[in-house]
Amino acid sequence: MKHIFLIGFMGSGKTAVAKELSHILQEKHIDLDTLVETMQKKDIPTIFKDEGEGAFREYEHQALHLIENAPIISTGGGIVERDENIHYMQENGIMIYLKTSFDVIASRLKDDSTRPLWKSDHDNKQLYQKRQPLYEAVADYIIDCDELSIYSITNQIVSIGRYKGIFRGE
Ligand code: S3P
Repeated sequence: MKHIFLIGFMGSGKTAVAKELSHILQEKHIDLDTLVETMQKKDIPTIFKDEGEGAFREYEHQALHLIENAPIISTGGGIVERDENIHYMQENGIMIYLKTSFDVIASRLKDDSTRPLWKSDHDNKQLYQKRQPLYEAVADYIIDCDELSIYSITNQIVSIGRYKGIFRGE
């Protein structure tokens, strides 16, 4: 089975868009962060605190290989940190980058305490600047999300998924 992998920075709406897609298409969705939490029986902040980022990256990598029957996959923002993950996604489907500006993300995440890598303004900006070209380079499709509603974003993804034969036609 081929998959649609939603990639992008923290707070770009990957999980929300994947849930909406799953709802309107009646297709299965796996959120990799949730899968890691279920597998480890711990939430992400606790994994980072107890075991560190390296352990989380390993769990995330393992989770990516457990997505068999779900066409819609929402990934964590750091999935592109490992080349093997990128290769796996390239071989098993298409990557759609939900491109969102730093300012929009910063306003969405201003009170967020669930993301261990969302830290000081300086660190956040640095991570964003490091990752942004990476998402752009690996993505098969880029959707500029800043001005779009969740419905326009999902509509675009439905069209791409149907065109690519990943979602059934109407
Ligand atoms: C991370 C993003 C998070 C989660 C973890 C690490 C990252 O997912 O996987 O906190 O490295 O950017 P979201 O992108 O869903 O916030």
